[in-house]
Amino acid sequence: MTGASAAAVDGDTPADTWQRTSSPASTIGSWLPEGDLGVRLAAGLSRVEAALLTAVQSEHAFIQEAAGHLVAAGGKRFRPLLTLLAAELGDPQATGVTEAAVVCELTHLATLYHDDVMDEAAVRRGAPSANSRWSNSIAILTGDLLFARASDLLADLGPEAVRIQARTFERLVTGQIRETVGPRPGDDPVAHYLEVLADKTGSLVATSARFGASFGGAPPELVSALTAFAEEVGVAFQLSDDLLDIVSEDGASGKSPGTDLREGIATLPALIALSGDDPAEERLRELVSRPITDDDEHAEALALLRSSAALARATEVLREYADRARARLSEVPAGPVRDALSALSEYVVTRTS
Ligand code: IPE
Ligand code: IPE
Ligand code: MG
Ligand code: MG
Repeated sequence: MTGASAAAVDGDTPADTWQRTSSPASTIGSWLPEGDLGVRLAAGLSRVEAALLTAVQSEHAFIQEAAGHLVAAGGKRFRPLLTLLAAELGDPQATGVTEAAVVCELTHLATLYHDDVMDEAAVRRGAPSANSRWSNSIAILTGDLLFARASDLLADLGPEAVRIQARTFERLVTGQIRETVGPRPGDDPVAHYLEVLADKTGSLVATSARFGASFGGAPPELVSALTAFAEEVGVAFQLSDDLLDIVSEDGASGKSPGTDLREGIATLPALIALSGDDPAEERLRELVSRPITDDDEHAEALALLRSSAALARATEVLREYADRARARLSEVPAGPVRDALSALSEYVVTRTS
């Protein structure tokens, strides 16, 4: 079922409506606020879902299967949700809001196809990644096709939206490249890491909110406040993703935990451990200073990281980003929309998948 059957029925909570009317259910559905706002967001997400299914169609059955693979596998729909919520600061029914939300999710989807090639990831959204199900070439080209579909939709949103998206995409790719090459000599590794997070993830999350607020017709100062809020939420979201890669149980995230360690990508807990001189973390430093291919060493590193002081400190940094994001909401008028944005900044700290 898609948006055609998005109406609420008696006794439905917004989360129920979203679960019942959307295929597949977004794992963020249970977060939706109560009341009219939640009902409108659930209906908006159903419209996004229907438009996403249209956007991945192809006259070639195989291409449709590959392009639709990750849409069908689920996902949180975090970015379109943020677009819809930001649009609530103006008119959420305004022209362009749904399309902008779809552009953001398509861009995100395309980067997932490419990211799983880069990270040699086997699982995504609880399904085989496109690279493992088919091949790297198919995953890369399907990602490109999704970028093309996003550009097609953007053309109708006007040259300003095209430019914002182009610059967002440049930042996202810059982050992915800088993560791949690592810090240069003389760079502070933690500062490099946080810049990478802002570019690879903060950029698109910020644009998701910016599009919603601006197509909804919110005043420019609110558009700016929402963009700044979402950039910090985006960094917090990626930080929590990196922590979940260490602490989550197998299967809970729909991805393979421990991928960062296997790929030799030092995320914040590892960087904090590496920068310290605590003798208790000597073995941990030795393990995380290079990619870990041996299964026993991988399990050992994960166990050491889980109980480390470095993990506790990284969790504090996550909390600082979420608090800073929430402080940006002081310019947003008090009410259910501000409360929902605030709850979203809390969700990124407490989420478990
Ligand atoms: C995964 O994004 C990549 C990151 C930026 C952490 P999501 O966690 O939003 O992935 P889906 O869309 O729910 O699969
Ligand atoms: C993904 O980063 C960020 C983008 C796709 C831009 P990660 O590699 O950390 O995300 P996951 O863990 O694969 O989702
Ligand atoms: Mg990855
Ligand atoms: Mg990656």
